[in-house]
Amino acid sequence: MKKIAIITSGGDAPGMNAAITAVVKAAARRGIECIGIKRGFNGLLTISDDNQKDLQRFDLETVLDNADRPGTQLRTARCDDFRKPEFQKKGADTLRKLGVDAVVVIGGDGSFQGALRLVEQGIPCVGIPGTIDNDLAFTEMTLGYETAVQVCTEAIRDIRATSRSHNRPHVVECMGRHCGDIALKAACATGAEIVLVPEVKWDIETVAQRLCYQIRKENPRATIVIAEGCWDSMMPFDAYSYLNPRGKKFREDDKMNASFLASILQRKCIDILGLNEGSPTRYHDEGDELAVRSTVVGYTQRGRMPVAKDSAFAFEAGHLAVSLLCKGYTGQVIGTRHGRVFHMDMADALKEKRTFRHDLYDLVNDIRD
Ligand code: ADP
Ligand code: F6P
Repeated sequence: MKKIAIITSGGDAPGMNAAITAVVKAAARRGIECIGIKRGFNGLLTISDDNQKDLQRFDLETVLDNADRPGTQLRTARCDDFRKPEFQKKGADTLRKLGVDAVVVIGGDGSFQGALRLVEQGIPCVGIPGTIDNDLAFTEMTLGYETAVQVCTEAIRDIRATSRSHNRPHVVECMGRHCGDIALKAACATGAEIVLVPEVKWDIETVAQRLCYQIRKENPRATIVIAEGCWDSMMPFDAYSYLNPRGKKFREDDKMNASFLASILQRKCIDILGLNEGSPTRYHDEGDELAVRSTVVGYTQRGRMPVAKDSAFAFEAGHLAVSLLCKGYTGQVIGTRHGRVFHMDMADALKEKRTFRHDLYDLVNDIRD
């Protein structure tokens, strides 16, 4: 083993830089050179004799300085061409030309599919899970997930403080693509009253009833934490016919979002609680009997300096990746199980089915069994 290449791919995740540093450091101790391929698989496809812009030569000093920074110093991207066999072959040929003996791919399941294609082309690869979404079944941890949960937790706590002052419910949207883990964990961490995720079917009427229950219980600052993918599991609701006669513009081609959900819940709760007859209530706010606001936490979830747990996992994973490659392993992914870092076959890992913590979901939503 003389030369290892590192690729970060998919959405960036806090901890990716720490993993890069760990790989470079572990390799340097064994006298192995490390190079970086910039912009995910895109970079691999653009490197040529005449164009080395996407090639990064690592120097230990600069890498060490990057370990605790968010993002990825190698940049990242999504590369549709890499799904095509001719481009996978081109990528493998480039790696061979560069004298690369093995690759560490840091990314999510899509990136690992790309890594598997390189393995099929004869390039040894090891994967380190880097995605805030926590959507990989084989591992308890993915780089960036704990950090994203921390960002959402802080945002929700801040929002609950202002919601309390105004007696206002609030919808807060977290990332996670088709996975509700960030939303669920942040909801648990903040004592939020309602959580909506793509893993569990839900309907607006029931959510409005649950919110009204909170309001009747003198808790009008209830927080509805939603995962960005929760619209996938929402029961059909005609937002156009509901909102437009009630003074809110919803065009036929509009998609549901946190702001529309807040508007619908506001109007439904006013109806359910009988607040629409002009009777002043203790929920009075700027002339509205009840106001429901919304916030999308957004990309701040990806841009934060990694929390200790993510950085420490990155460090161990980078160390293990180099050690595995030196022992001749290929097509392996690294993860954690029962809190310990381990490795397993990449193809088998990607076949594992995710489980969702329905018990915690029910507890947050106060659903009795
Ligand atoms: P993540 O790695 O976070 O899941 P994506 O699903 O966007 O992110 O995948 C990242 C990249 O991995 C894609 O842009 C593509 O270059 C590569 N990739 C995804 N799926 C495949 C596949 N089936 N074959 C080859 N490459 C793939
Ligand atoms: O996979 C990480 C993630 O942040 C998802 O939570 C989100 O849906 C997606 O990436 C956003 O991707 P983009 O950066 O392309 O907007």
